[in-house]
Amino acid sequence: MSRVAYVNGRYLPHRSSRVHIEDRGFQFADSVYEVIAIRAGQFVDEERHLARLKRSREALELSAPMSDAALKTVLRETVRRNHVADGIVYLQVTRGAAPREFAFPKRARPSLIVTARAQAIADPALIERGVAVITVPDLRWKRPDIKSVSLLPNVLAKQQAKYADAYEAWQVDAYGNVTEGTSSNAWVVNGVGEVVTRQADHSILNGVTRLGLIDIIERAGLRLVERPFSVSEARAAREAFLTSSTNGVLPVVRIDGGAVGDGRPGSLAVTLAAAYRRYMAEGTR
Ligand SMILES: Cc1ncc(COP(=O)(O)O)c(C=O)c1O
Repeated sequence: MSRVAYVNGRYLPHRSSRVHIEDRGFQFADSVYEVIAIRAGQFVDEERHLARLKRSREALELSAPMSDAALKTVLRETVRRNHVADGIVYLQVTRGAAPREFAFPKRARPSLIVTARAQAIADPALIERGVAVITVPDLRWKRPDIKSVSLLPNVLAKQQAKYADAYEAWQVDAYGNVTEGTSSNAWVVNGVGEVVTRQADHSILNGVTRLGLIDIIERAGLRLVERPFSVSEARAAREAFLTSSTNGVLPVVRIDGGAVGDGRPGSLAVTLAAAYRRYMAEGTR
């Protein structure tokens, strides 16, 4: 089946879709994006993704390529044309094409591209096994809360994880505290049963899955603490897990080669993973 991409007003064959060579997303990473999970044909937490897109855009003074209502139509049409029931829809807004100059161009129109593809979402087999992570220095700029395509440090860190046969790299700040994964948020469960994740300030992306899980944790009456935690605290934790739109809640069973707890997915992480899968099934919010 051939894939279809939306590019600035047109649905085109994915393989021949192009943006201009002077698109500022290409030249300066002057661009923001979102990845929304599609689960059983439903958009998961679409409103939160669109709110975060707006926040990212506004932080960069990037104007909207179209209204939210029109954008939702394009997202649905792209998903429909690609026959995605379980997978992701990816959207990217750039400041558009203009002669190369650092300052904002006077007259560029924002570019919008949308793609969709089928893939496993919150894969139960992976959740059952759990995954390994490594830790690496956080080399990113000081605003990773803005979901920009300036992702080179994330790319390099994920490649380090790959070399180490790990699933994800947890990035570590100058104080030895974990910020987040390359494309996921990081969590631990400590010895007294508190669920700990870093507070959503400028140092991390405030994951939509993170927000959904916080709702679940609060509804369940579990103890949530939003604060930095160190690599040594993570290594000594009872449980660890990561969250993202594609993974849902995914247990972490090894950190830098050492077992977390007994080296198997923690019971709370598994419970939260199941609760998050149910939450996804509730569909668009
Ligand atoms: C750096 C980073 N942190 C966290 C996340 C998780 O965000 P979400 O739950 O919205 O997918 C992502 C997602 O790609 C990410 O790139």
